[in-house]
Amino acid sequence: MARKKLAVLISGRGSNLQSLIDACQAPDFPAQIALVISNKPGVFGLERAEKAGIPTTVVDHREFDGRKSFENALHDMISACKPDLVCLAGFMRILTDGFVTRWHNRLINIHPSLLPSFKGLHTHERALETGVRFVGCTIHFVRPAMDDGPIIIQAAVPVRPDDDPDTLAARVLEQEHKIYPLAVRLIAEGRVRVSHEKVMIADAEMPEGAILNPSGS
Ligand code: GRF
Repeated sequence: MARKKLAVLISGRGSNLQSLIDACQAPDFPAQIALVISNKPGVFGLERAEKAGIPTTVVDHREFDGRKSFENALHDMISACKPDLVCLAGFMRILTDGFVTRWHNRLINIHPSLLPSFKGLHTHERALETGVRFVGCTIHFVRPAMDDGPIIIQAAVPVRPDDDPDTLAARVLEQEHKIYPLAVRLIAEGRVRVSHEKVMIADAEMPEGAILNPSGS
């Protein structure tokens, strides 16, 4: 079967992009990255893509007089490579309803929390302030509201008493790099469907039991 085409949108260091680049290098991975777009010039993620021989382009939001014209340019650029799926990977611009609707169920995002908790920025600081025992990360289909939409995969990470936002972010990031390629694989294999705004995954392996934090004896 032909590999599905991805467009990946970034704004920065691109470690999640790297996890997708690495996954796509496996001969049996069912997707390939056709284009990487950044809204910021000069970011490290662009270098990662270039090093992997992937076409890149910059659509700099500061060069447009408003969100609508920026999003139109973004849409045209993405459409030109005819992707099956658009992956937001640390893309730091809010996308409006118009754009999101045009890519309905073909646009996914990674967020560093167990949604619907801790939408928005500074997730790890806020989680530590709240005292939750688990944090994590989520891959979801994008809907017009920020960090909202049907959840595809989540990974839970236990909080340790000595954690600070950086240690927590580092452990969550490790999981981000696992679940993004996994979500893309499941979608590219045609196993993911959205029904009544919930995601159903065909033949998924489901974990047993539960993790306790602190652990029971
Ligand atoms: C990640 O933590 C991602 O969850 C969030 O922004 C960060 C991007 O990191 N949306 P990177 O650019 O992929 O390294």
